Amino acid sequence: TEAVKVGLLGVGTVGGGVLKTIRLQQQKLSERLGRPVEIVKALVRDPGKKRTVELDHDLITTRFEEVLKSDVDIVVEVMGGVEPAYEYVRALIEKGCHIVTANKELLARHGTELIQLANRHQVQLAYEASVAGGIPILGVLRQFLRTNDISSVSGILNGTTNFILTQMEQAKLPYHEALKQAQELGYAEADPSSDVEGWDALYKSYILAQLVFGEALPLNQARRRGIDSLHLGQLTLAHELGYRIKLLAQATKAEGGVQLSVSPTLLPLDHPLAQVQGADNAVQVSGNIVGDLLFMGKGAGELPTASAVVEDLAYLLTQRFSPHPLWRERQGNHGVGKEGTWS
Ligand code: NAP
Ligand code: HSE
Repeated sequence: TEAVKVGLLGVGTVGGGVLKTIRLQQQKLSERLGRPVEIVKALVRDPGKKRTVELDHDLITTRFEEVLKSDVDIVVEVMGGVEPAYEYVRALIEKGCHIVTANKELLARHGTELIQLANRHQVQLAYEASVAGGIPILGVLRQFLRTNDISSVSGILNGTTNFILTQMEQAKLPYHEALKQAQELGYAEADPSSDVEGWDALYKSYILAQLVFGEALPLNQARRRGIDSLHLGQLTLAHELGYRIKLLAQATKAEGGVQLSVSPTLLPLDHPLAQVQGADNAVQVSGNIVGDLLFMGKGAGELPTASAVVEDLAYLLTQRFSPHPLWRERQGNHGVGKEGTWS
């Protein structure tokens, strides 16, 4: 039987994890798909870089055109950033490739347009890994919470900042030391200001809001504060008073539309979200029928994120094409610039 031919855009933390997972779970994957999975091309920036995973040198390229002209069924975009990822994903969709991506910034800026393009070309665009790492929250919301009226989706959506806050509070590490550790462990974005200024959590909230409510107010109307101005003394004082500071992201249905906010928040020490440690994430969903639900688990890192990517890939390949149902069309442009202006 012919293999499923997979292209990779990026072999960093997540791309490396995807390769490892495909190898480790090879038998299960082939049984599920009825055919083996084969990596046919992998795009990187620096072909000489030492990687944590072995990859045949012939498969590596620095030229996107080589991926585009390869015979690929599906491409995993784990390079990050908006450009050139946006151009590459567009070109691949237009060629008829399915896409699996972990790139929340790309989705928050261009999700609506890419989904429409994918629908037009009858290919799937899957993005479970873009929100809350290994927690399969988008699949649950999409499949099993559609009849409830959801009033809010909130929680801890950024692993890097939760790791930093945990290390500062428990190991008394200075902020910059804790951030350096988060980078070394592969949790942080290539530009970590996205994590610490709250952008990353906001992008994820936006994606959740689009899925659950079919809308979200523009990101420049969101309240966004990061953890970059917090210091150890504030965390210690909060703890002495019986609280813990967590970076909470919220998408709430309100009169004027769906409000988004990201902000450091004081939580009583016995609050379930106050128990979330290290790079873990937690997503709280409130539905009128089901009540409150809490999903917790690894929100960043090589294998947890790869789990979401590879599960998405396998699920996608076992489904017949159907147009993306929930992320509805809205008027105007949906992207948001780093400065918070619609682009
Ligand atoms: P990363 O470690 O920085 O890896 C990025 C990879 O993409 C590298 O292999 C890099 O090549 C390649 N790349 C970047 N720009 C390129 C370009 N212009 N041309 C060719 N190759 C390029 O990033 P990551 O942590 O794996 O994250 C990837 C994506 O997953 C991002 O969208 C991120 O937000 C998302 N994500 C990450 C995590 C996590 O825990 N890390 C979790 C969920 C989602 P070189 O190796 O040659 O530099
Ligand atoms: N930088 C992100 C985080 C990766 O720390 O949560 C997971 O999306």
